[in-house]
Amino acid sequence: MILVSDTHLSRAAPEAEANWDAVLRYVGLAAPDLVIHLGDLTLDGAHSPADLRYGRRQLDRLPVAWHAVPGNHDVGDNPLPGGPAESTVDAGRRQQWLDIVGADHWSLTMNDWTLLAVNAQLLGSGLAAEASQWSWLEGQLGGRSSQQLTALISHKPVAATGAEIAVSPPSRFLPQQARDRLGGLLKDKPPALVMSGHVHQHRLLHLDGTDHLWVPTTWAVLPDEMQPLVGAKRCGVVSLEFASGTSPRPDYPVGSATGGAVCPATGGAKAQSESA
Ligand SMILES: [Fe+2]
Ligand SMILES: [Zn+2]
Repeated sequence: MILVSDTHLSRAAPEAEANWDAVLRYVGLAAPDLVIHLGDLTLDGAHSPADLRYGRRQLDRLPVAWHAVPGNHDVGDNPLPGGPAESTVDAGRRQQWLDIVGADHWSLTMNDWTLLAVNAQLLGSGLAAEASQWSWLEGQLGGRSSQQLTALISHKPVAATGAEIAVSPPSRFLPQQARDRLGGLLKDKPPALVMSGHVHQHRLLHLDGTDHLWVPTTWAVLPDEMQPLVGAKRCGVVSLEFASGTSPRPDYPVGSATGGAVCPATGGAKAQSESA
């Protein structure tokens, strides 16, 4: 499969569509079974259903099946202390995603693997949809057989070292309470792999028996003065092969491999703080 993230598509962002065209060319050549989008499909779907409709049309240009989870730019952010209400997730924004793009959480089985994808933006919201997503996740995790390997999919990263989280903006990772609750659910049988987007950096982090794969953006990276380097600040996609009895092998085609996608460092009006 090919993983893409943080495309930030909008009619107002022609540079994002130019990079998406490069992704489409790459997917056409690589011919994967599936494309998974890790969120921030749109530049501002949280405020603009037109952006969501535009993003959906772009996903439909993929020549293979696709699945997606929403990011903060698509449905609003997790409630953050002091965060503005106008950019926080709510039931209406989530519903727009469901109506225009599709499911916000889902599961897939591939060989020995079960992929569980969640709407990370709901976590900490207190919305009814958050409670029902937790129930669904508990059911899915509780029903795993001992042979099955689990991969989690979330727009925001789930884990890093405590030292890193302590110096990171609270919006970068899942909210602490949600990470604690998820940690409790996964304690007996940790997932082999967690895939996330959001930070616009590519990274593979091994923590407590789990590989955390940070999928890069296809849109733009943030300058170092806005966001420190923790992985690789290069645009690209990740291709991943799931085979029975082996760990997935990530491959990170970038630059010319994606057909000449450019990856500017954003600055100025579009990214005044890290709200990747
Ligand atoms: Fe993003
Ligand atoms: Zn994001």
